[in-house]
Amino acid sequence: MADYKLGKLINEGKTKKIYELLNDATLCLLKSKDRITAGDGVRSHDLEGKAEISTSTTVKVFRLLNQAGVKTAYVKSADPKCFIAKKCDMVPIEWVTRRLATGSFLKRHPGVPECYRFNPPLQETFYKDDANHDPQWSDQQIISAGFEIGGIKITKDEVDIMKRMTLVVFEILERAWTVRDSALIDMKIEFGIDSDGEILVADIIDSDSWRLWPSGDKKLMKDKQVYRNLATVTQQNLETIKRNFKWVEEQLDYVIEAPSPLVVIFMGSPSDEAYCQEIAKHATALGLNPQLRVCSAHKGTLDTVNILAEYEGSGENVVLIAVAGRSNGLGPVLSGNTVLPVINCPPLKSDNIERSVWSSLDVPSGLGCTTVVYPEAAALAAAQIHAMHNHLIWARLRAKQLANFLSLKRADSKLRKS
Ligand SMILES: Nc1ncnc2c1ncn2[C@@H]1O[C@H](COP(=O)(O)OP(=O)(O)OP(=O)(O)O)[C@@H](O)[C@H]1O
Ligand SMILES: [Mg+2]
Repeated sequence: MADYKLGKLINEGKTKKIYELLNDATLCLLKSKDRITAGDGVRSHDLEGKAEISTSTTVKVFRLLNQAGVKTAYVKSADPKCFIAKKCDMVPIEWVTRRLATGSFLKRHPGVPECYRFNPPLQETFYKDDANHDPQWSDQQIISAGFEIGGIKITKDEVDIMKRMTLVVFEILERAWTVRDSALIDMKIEFGIDSDGEILVADIIDSDSWRLWPSGDKKLMKDKQVYRNLATVTQQNLETIKRNFKWVEEQLDYVIEAPSPLVVIFMGSPSDEAYCQEIAKHATALGLNPQLRVCSAHKGTLDTVNILAEYEGSGENVVLIAVAGRSNGLGPVLSGNTVLPVINCPPLKSDNIERSVWSSLDVPSGLGCTTVVYPEAAALAAAQIHAMHNHLIWARLRAKQLANFLSLKRADSKLRKS
């Protein structure tokens, strides 16, 4: 049962109501309505069951983003039609990302064929103003509007931050949908500023937020465009739309979970354990499943080959990291006997770097092991290999790059303002 106390209604829009929470003034409750609307509300229908589907879709998408490390307003689900979020002052802009040209883009850019592919994805922004049909705004217009939201001035820095976050959200969801052989064509998100002045992906993300084409086929579209396209709306049409939305909501179950892929960290000597734990810590933070093993290629050659066979025989995708000081026979021996990727990460000491590192680098012909010299780099290199087949690892890596971008941006902005 609910462990929250509802306060007063803060806001009501076309598709949801926002309530204060008496337990915590920094949070709010978003309650979805059984209502579908399009064309700035000109078309509008009751659709029983839509609230639950929409809430569940948003909850799954936000969980995926939070788990990847993208900051969103989502806190937790409350009941089938509601979820709890950080209470935000909303930035009145719709942030759109497009991978393929379709819809309003084609009208605004005559001559561009449908499905023209944007690399990188195209970004557009629209001022949220129903009365004027949400006019498209440039960066310059947003900056010049001089918004002050939640105590934060929206300057070029904030616009750059929201644009980068928008792009990363799109890319993560696009990659995730490929797991179900579905193409994310475009999407819109909104941002809010929470009580700490933090910029968060807010509002909702559901079948109203994107175009989603199973098998990349427009005819199979499963999003709200089906509703927008109808000449007249019948009860049967509405049922089809609800079935589509439900399909999307169910497919997300396959998208938000995947087993943590294995990274085996081999150490040539137990004295290297602390160093290996450091690699394991970074690996865990990236969503990998690190396993530590001790085996010496020099002193326990047969054992090393037998342990290797365990992983080769598992049929799983495994990345190997070899940690051996002085003469690193381990990594090259592993690499010469497996097709699995091997990353050398020798625990170099400052007095022996030049001598020791060469045993990892100057390997016999026919070997393809790579070498890094920092524990974090070993974990990242392993994650990049796994990211090619695991969209959740891909999402963590992309979100980590976003975090790096944000911290540089904030540091630069702070210096300029001081
Ligand atoms: N985390 C949040 N904190 C506070 N307000 C929020 C949050 N998430 C969404 N809102 C706001 O809730 C309001 C109601 O949402 P709804 O989507 O139903 O409105 P709408 O009719 O579509 O109007 P709009 O065009 O502003 O989206 C919107 O103004 C939205 O910005
Ligand atoms: Mg809205």
